[in-house]
Amino acid sequence: MRNLLITGGAGFIGANFVHHMLERYTDYQIVVFDKLTYAGRRENLARWEEDPRFTFVQGDICDMAAVRAAVKAHAIDTIVNFAAETHVDRSILAPDAVITTNVNGTWTLLEVARSMQLERFHQISTDEVYGAIPAPQRSREGDPLEPRSPYSASKAGAEHLVYAYFITYGLPVTVTRGSNNIGPFHYPEKAVPLFTTNALDNQPLPVYGDGLQVRDYQFVRDHCEAIDLVLQKGQLGEIYNVGTEVETANIDMAHKILDILDKPYSLITHVADRAGHDRRYALDCSKLRALGWRSRHTFDAALEQTVRWFVEHEAWWRPIKSGEYLEYYKRQYHDRT
Ligand code: NAD
Ligand code: TYD
Repeated sequence: MRNLLITGGAGFIGANFVHHMLERYTDYQIVVFDKLTYAGRRENLARWEEDPRFTFVQGDICDMAAVRAAVKAHAIDTIVNFAAETHVDRSILAPDAVITTNVNGTWTLLEVARSMQLERFHQISTDEVYGAIPAPQRSREGDPLEPRSPYSASKAGAEHLVYAYFITYGLPVTVTRGSNNIGPFHYPEKAVPLFTTNALDNQPLPVYGDGLQVRDYQFVRDHCEAIDLVLQKGQLGEIYNVGTEVETANIDMAHKILDILDKPYSLITHVADRAGHDRRYALDCSKLRALGWRSRHTFDAALEQTVRWFVEHEAWWRPIKSGEYLEYYKRQYHDRT
């Protein structure tokens, strides 16, 4: 593994993964292949623009000819697929792009990887494929997939294709199922950056329903280290859960953000719940730990670092919260409040 195609590398986790890989490995070539949708930002990768180990290609993972050309031009041996439509609420408002990119796009990449005999295809998946998990149960990799939103169903569909390519064609694949990430470059439509940037502007924090839904919030760089570990040491054809195994209710997360920013709890506004809202996700990560992995950041440390990053990088998020974002915000939140 030397020449990696990182699809979706201009997005939140993809960009952090590029930073991680270029910081850690001096002899890897990294090609980011990204459509630059509303969520993709070239500036997330600005520090590497002059580095000879880094190349940016703008393209759609559904465009087989473009993917093939990039793989050929850069002698790619490994694809790591981060590219996706990633927001559950947007997938409820408009499922078409989610299905197209997440299912058809993943299939396109698999087809290129198979026909060009790549060394590895790694799929970035999510804990949401398991569906809502009642306490005290934790999801293990062999558990049935019961996705309940268009987003999670599309990610489960993609995973099934990845596995089918492993079984049918012997494509060397691995999959990671990550829990909710937080950290730098997180697009402010997701809960933690949305609550943080709203709080900074003294705007309401729209908590869905009673706010007692449970998530495992992990620091994005921990997730990136786990993906790297699975690329180096993971077994082909295997799936690895990636999370902290620490459960946090959304309302507690909102309180902590307000505490860090010294803002009043009165900013919290309970709004109409998300349709089909998954009440709880919880992973069992023992399979990943057996590879030697452990999360470096506690939830409190991860949240503190994340919130501080947004305080210090207003120039990054302020321009995003205009134009298309405001239209989306109105559509998503106007009738809820
Ligand atoms: P993001 O929305 O921040 O970024 C997605 C990136 O994909 C953007 O750069 C976008 O331009 C690009 N993209 C979208 N459609 C594309 C297409 N058709 N062709 C090429 N590029 C395209 O997403 P993220 O939060 O960084 O998530 C990355 C991956 O991790 C996704 O596969 C997601 O399902 C998965 N994941 C995310 C989380 C999380 O908490 N954010 C947790 C687990 C798994
Ligand atoms: P989100 O960041 O969208 O991630 P996911 O839905 O993939 O878990 O949401 C995290 C949690 O926060 C989820 O339970 C939904 C909730 N949430 C709110 O309460 N209000 C909001 O405005 C958003 C975007 C999310």
